[in-house]
This record gives sequence, structure tokens and C-alpha cells, in this order.
Amino acid sequence: MSWKAFLPVLLFGLGAAAGFAQDVSLKLPPPQKTGGMPLMEALNARQSSRKFVKDRPVSDQVLSDLLWATWGFNRENKRTAPTAVNAQELDVYVLRDDGVWLYDARLNSLLRVHHEDVRAATVSDLARQPFVADAPITLVYVCDTTKLSPKASRPDWSLMDTGFLAQNAYLYCASVGLGTVVRGSFPPADLAKAMHLKETQTVTLCQCIGWPAP
Ligand SMILES: Cc1cc2nc3c(=O)[nH]c(=O)nc-3n(C[C@H](O)[C@H](O)[C@H](O)COP(=O)(O)O)c2cc1C
Repeated sequence: MSWKAFLPVLLFGLGAAAGFAQDVSLKLPPPQKTGGMPLMEALNARQSSRKFVKDRPVSDQVLSDLLWATWGFNRENKRTAPTAVNAQELDVYVLRDDGVWLYDARLNSLLRVHHEDVRAATVSDLARQPFVADAPITLVYVCDTTKLSPKASRPDWSLMDTGFLAQNAYLYCASVGLGTVVRGSFPPADLAKAMHLKETQTVTLCQCIGWPAP
């Protein structure tokens, strides 16, 4: 094959590679770390909501702010939520209609895990909790058990740690008028499979987030 005949193949390959690179990572806008609702007002507004506007997306800026509030770095190596023995064993996954994404707090980016919409896999019986399909975002808190030391950690600590992240998300949502509810009722094995998690990863909690419907 002459180089001229090879050129379209090369260009196609480069284009595909560029497209793939864009596809696997979504850079979020920098989180806004100032202002917002006063804490006491956010606490007063915090509540669980189970009615969401199905077609109103959450913008990248709001998502960036939400994820930073939930589990971002607020110091060199420490975060907005505490973890026992500073294990930082939790990961936050973002489930949307365009796939499963992993929040990379260092890069302030979402890394795409895969393209499938698996929000419905976070609930055993969608008919009983139909709001799960309406919420544009479900955060899934996942424990990376390889970061836990059997000597230094108790197994239930990752559940406690998760509570701090989820409450951060609750308060951020309250502060900007987003609706949210945490959900401890999820099918762990089916959800782990749908998310393509490793055996060393355990889902600890799900949290639906979206703009509240009246
Ligand atoms: C660990 C935990 C698990 C929960 N699981 C569910 C759930 O599976 N489904 C649901 O609709 N709400 C769930 N909730 C939300 C509670 O029902 C809710 O927080 C409670 O009714 C109090 O309401 P409030 O959050 O508005 O104060 C859960 C809350 C917690 C803390």
C-alpha cells in the first residue's frame, strides 16, 4: 500500500483515537468554593425528595460543585468528608443516561467506566420506586476494600464514612434547591455487575439527585 492509499486509514485511526480520548474523560469546570447558602439555612432546608423533573439535566458546573462538596480535596491530601484512619477508601460513581462515570477528585474530571444507563439497576423493584428512573443523576458510593487495613479498620467504618459524604451531598443539594434522597435498599450483586465493579469493591449507598418536581 502506498503512503497516499494509507493516509485515509491513518486519519481515521487518529480521529477515532481522539474521539476515544474525549469519550473516556470529561473535564469538569472548577468547583465554586465560595458563597452559597449559609450553613444554618442549608441545614434547615435539608430533606429527602422523591419527585424529580425527568428532563431537566444537572449542569456540569452544578455537578462539579456537588462532587467537590461531597468528596473533593479541600487540603493537600485531605477532603471535605472525614474517613476513619484517613483511609479515603470511598469512590463516588455518577450514573447518568449516558453511562457510568467515576469522579476523579484530583483531576476534577469524570472518567467513563462504560456507556450503559444502569440507574434502574440501583433498585430491586423500579415499580415501587419509579423516581429512581426520573432522577438524572444517581451517585453510588463504593468502598475500595484494598484501601482498608484489616488491622487498622473496622468493616463498618466504610458505612460510617459514607454517611459523611452523603450528608455533604444533602447539604449542597439543599443549598442550591436540588432534590435528593439516599437509598440503602439496592441489589448489591446486580448493581456491582451492572457497574462492572471489581470483587474488591463494595457499594455502600446510592443517592438520587435532580431538580425537584412539584
Ligand atoms: C442509611 C439510609 C438508607 C435509606 N434508604 C432509603 C431507601 O432505600 N429508599 C428511600 O426512599 N429512602 C431511604 N432513606 C431516606 C429516609 O427514608 C429519610 O431520610 C427519612 O425518611 C427521613 O426523611 P428526611 O431525609 O427528609 O429527613 C434512607 C436513609 C438513610 C439514612
